Amino acid sequence: MEYLDPTFIQAPEHRSDSNFIPYQPEEIPVIDLSRLDDPEDIQNVISEIGDACEKWGFFQVINHGVPCDTRKRVEETVKTFFDLPMEEKIKVKRDEVNPVGYHDGEHTKNVRDWKEVFDVYFKDPMVIPSSTDPDDEGLRVVYNKWPQFPSDFRHVNAIFQICISAYDREACEEYARQAEKLAFKLLELISLSLGLPKERFHDYFKEQMSFFRINRYPPCPRPDLALGVGHHKDADVISLLAQDEVGGLQVSRRSDGVWFPIRPVPDALVINMGNCMEVWTNDKYWSAEHRVVVNTTRERYSIPFFLMPSHDVEVKPLEELVSPENPPRYKGYKWGKFYVSRNRSDFKKLEIQNIQIDDFKVVT
Ligand code: OGA
Ligand code: NI
Repeated sequence: MEYLDPTFIQAPEHRSDSNFIPYQPEEIPVIDLSRLDDPEDIQNVISEIGDACEKWGFFQVINHGVPCDTRKRVEETVKTFFDLPMEEKIKVKRDEVNPVGYHDGEHTKNVRDWKEVFDVYFKDPMVIPSSTDPDDEGLRVVYNKWPQFPSDFRHVNAIFQICISAYDREACEEYARQAEKLAFKLLELISLSLGLPKERFHDYFKEQMSFFRINRYPPCPRPDLALGVGHHKDADVISLLAQDEVGGLQVSRRSDGVWFPIRPVPDALVINMGNCMEVWTNDKYWSAEHRVVVNTTRERYSIPFFLMPSHDVEVKPLEELVSPENPPRYKGYKWGKFYVSRNRSDFKKLEIQNIQIDDFKVVT
């Protein structure tokens, strides 16, 4: 048996074979956004999105307008970066002051993930709370970290036969702009699906904390024991994820918790609801648990864009969506504080479970 560092070992009930039914025919909806060009079809698209948000908290979109060549350029440049020796990569390593750049020690629910990541803020610079202390109103300005490739390092791109000698920052910035544009379009459709005005959520993003991440999941000697990302819900509003053809992402079905694979669809984006959307809609829309299974032979890439509100937004159920019959199920919380508290566990294994959205549930 291959050895696996114990920090990666999942509890038996969370391993990749737990509660997983590989051959079920049901799968999350794939929605073609080019249908929005047909005025007669728009309402159908909106209700399909609403149904998917309620039933799964997940759907995929195709013909979404984010150019796939930009995504490929991002993947290409980050592959070059990930292949550098560790002493180069740690020059742009994430730290507790500036939580962006390179990282290979992330823990989800206190177990280490089998992956390495590179994070890029959408807004550069960006404003975040300077501490987790609720009484501390201090803010910090944080900047993206861009790798410098060493001058003797040349990566020959196999397809175009060109030498890449600098990190393709421009591709990353362009990808972030395109993904954010689509995120807002989806947010408008989600708003309409709730019977709310199209721009109902817009004010929450004046100083948005959105970022995107490139995940590399290397082949793993013990995929039966480790996970690429352990089971979790995203903390954000919505996530837009590009994945390559390898597969490994799984979602837990709302009705019974059974795990389903999310089939890679060429050039599609996987969309999922985060905690903020679940709280705003008072649990009408579902922020599903998901996880990433790894394998022994193929590395996998994925690029999630996390749409996040401004640090000072108080996240609580929307007044329009609560009533005496449907009272608020969550206490409000300050987005920025929640996020920085949650991030603490990214650096080390904590003695206690990190902050989770259920900590804000109203006890009835
Ligand atoms: C995440 C995540 C899924 C994937 O980064 O939050 O769920 O397929 N990633 O990489
Ligand atoms: Ni996730």
